Parts: sequence; structure tokens; C-alpha cells
Amino acid sequence: MLPDPISSFISDHVESFVQELAQFLSIPSVSTLSEHATDVMSAAKWTLDQVNRCGFSGTIHLTDRHPIMLARSPEVPGAPVLLIYGHYDVQPPDPLDEWKTPPFSPEIRDGYIYARGASDDKGQLLTYIKAIESVLGAGQKLPLNLIILAEGEEEIGSPSLEKFLKDHRGQLLADAVVISDGSQFAHGIPAVTYGLRGLSYLQVEIRGPRFDLHSGSFGGVINNPAQVLADILSKLKNPEGTIAIPGFYDDVLAPQDWERREMASLPVDEQALKDYLGVSEFAGEPGYSILERRGARPTLDINGLWGGFSGEGAKTIIPSRAGAKVSMRLVPNQTPAKIDQLFERFVTANCPNGVSVNITSLHGADPVLVPRNTPAMMAAEKAIEIGFGKRPVFIREGGSIPVVNLIKKHLGQENILLLGWGSPSDGAHSPNERFCLEDFQSGIRSAAALFHELVNGLSLK
Ligand code: BES
Ligand code: MN
Ligand code: MN
Repeated sequence: MLPDPISSFISDHVESFVQELAQFLSIPSVSTLSEHATDVMSAAKWTLDQVNRCGFSGTIHLTDRHPIMLARSPEVPGAPVLLIYGHYDVQPPDPLDEWKTPPFSPEIRDGYIYARGASDDKGQLLTYIKAIESVLGAGQKLPLNLIILAEGEEEIGSPSLEKFLKDHRGQLLADAVVISDGSQFAHGIPAVTYGLRGLSYLQVEIRGPRFDLHSGSFGGVINNPAQVLADILSKLKNPEGTIAIPGFYDDVLAPQDWERREMASLPVDEQALKDYLGVSEFAGEPGYSILERRGARPTLDINGLWGGFSGEGAKTIIPSRAGAKVSMRLVPNQTPAKIDQLFERFVTANCPNGVSVNITSLHGADPVLVPRNTPAMMAAEKAIEIGFGKRPVFIREGGSIPVVNLIKKHLGQENILLLGWGSPSDGAHSPNERFCLEDFQSGIRSAAALFHELVNGLSLK
């Protein structure tokens, strides 16, 4: 149960909470674009100010790129410690002309707030701060010790976080970790996530002649980098949809039978999903359901392609270079280091003479599975039931959050609660990203309930 005064405080203040969310969303904290570095810093300072107002002591830590905000609640002696992680950086908003209202001018329409970062992850991160504020505002004390770790580099693969966790280990040790940076199973079906895919993200560049050439004068006598690139990319996958890189599946842990049965029991409205995506057919690895393909099987995707002329009309050239960005989603027990190596070997072996290939790893994240039957998980289940009014289902998500394995590795903590308040139709990374205000409120309620449930759950250990 959520104590009445806290519940009322949330109901009475939800409008001002939404106003604050809108302020947070107005900061264009795009981590991958260097011209937005000062905005990422502003977002860090905004969160610091928010937690300071809750009586936390917080600090902004500078890194090689974007700052990390770390804050701690006043000590509650003998009570468990919960580490809350979130990120205040966002993905680039383009294509801009597809947004109905500008990405950094939040607008509320039909119960949703629209802006880049609304769901991923500013809206979800803020639920914890507003939950803390609501406990205190209701005249109560926090029942446990809280640490908030918020970063500005998640969307670029969290490059500074590993060193930070090592250097600040003593300040980060906790009995459980909670991360709300994902989604419910479907809108109105809250979930606890117990698995995330990992990621290998690479860039491939093919170079041929010193400059673009007349395709009439030189066509037919040299290898065309764009053609070479297309040939190589087409070899990465077999026609039926499996990945053709030798060794790619060697370390893949197959989903267990019970897990496959459980996934099969989750309601998937395939037609509704097709309609949302605007596609007439699904594709992918044969023998696996849509849910298995999205969460429990590895994939390879081309994220972008360039080379030669793509402006209006025709230009008869052989481009001097061509390139692609390719990402592979990984599952336990694949590792980005090994997959990068297999990819590189395969691409190099398939590159013909007369052109050169250059492969760069842009970032990686380890796949993860977290234990399901722990007291912390049960506390999370109860908290969600209180906040959303429904028992959650257990799911594996297809996205990646680099911090999860870093926490396992450097803090030795496996009690990691992945509780997404968003929804798969929020449009994370897409134009018109949004967050349902009802979910924002349910998230705040669940977060506040989690504080109380964890105190009971963790002291039962
Ligand atoms: N919040 C997402 C991760 C996510 C997506 C979790 C969907 C669960 C469901 C996160 O911000 C993200 O986008 N991560 C990147 C990885 C990173 C290394 C750039 C991703 O998954 O592409
Ligand atoms: Mn995120
Ligand atoms: Mn993201």
C-alpha cells in the first residue's frame, strides 16, 4: 500500500510535476552532437538542483565528455541502500520535419507529453525524484538510503561510466539497483524486465579511387566502393534471415523451454503492431516468435548507408568512397569484443583487391539476464501493482543499457530492477517521442511504493 498522505500528495501535485518535466524536456541535451555539450551540462545541473531541493547532497563530476550527477539522501542508519540510475542525455531529434511540434518545445496532446527524451529517459528518471519529493512533501521520512546516479552519455554507449564506477565504488555500493529506462510490455500491461540485449556497433568504410570518377570513362575497369559495400553487406545475412558471419551464434544461449512457453503466453496483437509500424509483413529468423526475435535472439541491422551521389537527378560517377553503420544486438553469452572481431574478419575476407576497408567500433554493451526470484524482484512486483493497479508480467527487452553489466562487474550487484514505465509506442529515438502522463503518474506511485516495499523485502534477506 502507498500511505494515503503520499498518494494524495502525488494527486495534488501532478500538474506541477508535469510542468517541471516540460522544463527538463526543453533542454536539448543531445549527447552525440558536440554543439550540445553545454546543454547536457544544463540537464545535469537541472537534476542536481532537483535532488538538492529534496535535501540530498549531490555533485556533478566532469568526465572526458559529459558530466555525471551523483547524489545521496541523508543517512537512514541501518536501512537498506537503493541505487537509482537514469540518463538525461537524449538521441538527436532528426528528421525534424517529421515532428508535429518541435522536439524541445514540449507540448501536451491527448494525455501525452511530446518531446525528445519524454520517455527515454528524462520522464522516467524524473519519476524517482518526484516520488522522493512526494514522500517528504507528505511529511514522511524516506524509509531507506537512496543514491541517484544520472549520466549524460548513455545514448553514446556510456564511455565514461566504467571508470567512474571503479573510482567511486565506495559511494555506489547498494543492496539493490533500480533502472527505469525501458517500457511496459504494452501500453497498460506493466512489466518487470529480466533480460536486455547487448550491442556491437561498427562503422565500415570502403575506399577506392582518390576522387569521384566519370563512370563512362572509368566504369568497368576498377572496383566501385559503393558496389563493394553493397556486396559485403548483402553477405552478412542469409536469405532466410539468419546471420552469415561464421561463429556468430557459437556463444548464444538458447531461450529455455519454460521461457519460450512464458513468452508464448504473453498477448501480442500482431496486426496492431504491423499497423503501428506501417509494414505489411514481419521478417526475421525462422522458428522464433516475434517476441523471441525481439528479446532473446541476436540480430544484425544496417543503421545507415552513404556513398556517391544521392541528390536530385542523375550524376554519372564512380564514388571514391562508401560506408555503412551496422549494429548487432547480442544475447547471453555473446560479447561485443568477440563479435566485433568476427565481423571484422568476415568483412575483411570479403573485400576484393583494389579497394581498402576500414572498420571502427563505435560502441558496445554486454547482454544481460538478472535473477528473477529475489526479494527485490518481489518488492518490485508489488510496487508496480500498487502504482499501475495491475500485476506486472516478466519480459526480456531488445534494447541495451550499458550500465547494467558495469554494475554487475564493478559493484558485484545482481539485484538490478529494470522497471520500464514507458510504452513500446512512445517512439523512443523516433520523431514525435512521447510519454503518457498517466504512466508518468503511475511511475511516481510505483517508485514511492518501491521504497517502502524494498525496506520490507530486503530486510527479509
Ligand atoms: N532506453 C534505451 C534502452 C532500451 C530500449 C531498453 C528499449 C529497453 C527497451 C537506451 O536509452 C538506449 O537507447 N540504448 C542504446 C544503447 C546504447 C549503447 C547506445 C540502444 O539500445 O540502442
Ligand atoms: Mn534510455
Ligand atoms: Mn535511448
